[in-house]
Amino acid sequence: MKIASYCFCILLSVLILLSWSGIAWAQDSMLARTPPMGWNSWNHFACEVSDAVVRAQADAIVTSGMKSVGYTYILIDDCWQGTRDADGYIRPNAKFPDMKALADYVHSKALKIGIYSSPGPKTCEGYPGSYGHEEQDAQTYAGWGMDYLKYDLCSYDGMGDQLAAYKKMGDALKKTGRPMIYALCQYGMQKGWQWGASVGGNLWRTDDDIRDDYYVMAELGFGQNGLEQFAGPGHWNDPDMLEIGNGGMTIDEYRTHMSLWCILAAPLITGNSLVTMDAETRALLTNTELIAIDQDPLGIQGHRIKQEGPLEVWAKPLKDGSTAVGLFNRGWGAMPLTVDFRDIGLGTSSLVRDLWAKKDLGSFQGKYTAIVAQHGVVMLQIKKGI
Ligand code: GLA
Repeated sequence: MKIASYCFCILLSVLILLSWSGIAWAQDSMLARTPPMGWNSWNHFACEVSDAVVRAQADAIVTSGMKSVGYTYILIDDCWQGTRDADGYIRPNAKFPDMKALADYVHSKALKIGIYSSPGPKTCEGYPGSYGHEEQDAQTYAGWGMDYLKYDLCSYDGMGDQLAAYKKMGDALKKTGRPMIYALCQYGMQKGWQWGASVGGNLWRTDDDIRDDYYVMAELGFGQNGLEQFAGPGHWNDPDMLEIGNGGMTIDEYRTHMSLWCILAAPLITGNSLVTMDAETRALLTNTELIAIDQDPLGIQGHRIKQEGPLEVWAKPLKDGSTAVGLFNRGWGAMPLTVDFRDIGLGTSSLVRDLWAKKDLGSFQGKYTAIVAQHGVVMLQIKKGI
C-alpha cells in the first residue's frame, strides 16, 4: 500500500511537471504571433534613459491612446547596467534603483517590459554584457519580470560563433520558464534571418542602425525585398525601430516610413518621446488601418511587385482576401504611379480604399493611378469588386 501511494505521488508529480512545461512551451510558441509593437528608449534617449524616463513613457503610451491601438512593450535599451555582485549577478546602475519595482509599475498598466544585453563582455556603450553570465542574467531578467530581451552583438563581434552565442542565451531564456520575446540584434551579419528562429529568436535585425534620415530609412526599408520568406507568425525580420516624431524627416517621409514598415510586417517599435509627441506624430503612429496591415494574422511580409527607377509598387496579401498596396515615390517631385490589378491577382473590377485619407475611392477597372508626392506614398487596400 505504502509503495502504491509512493508510486502514485511520483506519477502525479511527473504529470504536473509535464503539464507545467507544456503550458510554458505553449505560451512560448504564442509569443510574437504578430509583429511586436511598443516603445524603445534608444533612438530618442540613448544613454539618458532612467527609471523616471521609462515610467513617464509608460504613462504616456496609455494616455496618448497608443496602448489601445496595440503598442504594449516598453523596452529599456542600452545603459541601464551597473556592476556585478560578488556572485556574478548583474545589478542596475543608479539611474534604475529598483528594476523589479519598475517592471511591476509597467505591468500595473497592463503593459509589458523589456531589457537589453549583449553576448559579448561589453554592450555597444561599454556597459557589462552577458558573456559568461548568460544563465544568471536570464534568471535575473525573469526574476525582475521582464517580458522581452534585445540581445545586441556589440563586443562579441569577432569573438566566436555568433549562432552558438545567440543559442546559448535563447536556451537560457527558455530554461527560466518565463515567456520572453527574444530579439536578436546582429545587424543581419551571417544572414541572421536564416538561423534566427532556430536559436529561439522571435525577431532579428536585418541591417545596420536606422537614423532619423530619409535616405537611411529608405535604404533599410526598401532593402528588405527578398527576405519575405523568413518572416511569419512568431519570427520576424526587423529593419530597426521607428524614427517617426524625432524631427529629421518630412511628413511624407515619415508616412513612407510607417507605410513601408506595415507592408513589411515589421515590428512597430517607436523611438520618439511619447510624452512630448505632437498631434501629427500621434496620428502617424496610431492610424488603425495601417496598423491592421502590419498586424494582419496571416503574417505575410510584403514585397516589391514593380519598380521603374525611383517608383516602386509593393504589395502584402491580407487574411480577408484583400491586398495592401503601397505606391512609393523615392524620387524628386510628385509623380504618377499605377497599380495593375492583375499584378496582385485581381480581375478587372476592384474596389480601392486610401488608408491615409481613410476614404473609399470607389470601383476601378484594370488599374488605379495616383499622383504620389516626392519621397511620399499612397497606401491602398484593394479588393475584388462585385
Ligand atoms: C546598437 C544597436 C542599437 C542600440 C545601440 C545601443 O547600435 O543596433 O539599436 O541598441 O547599440 O548601444
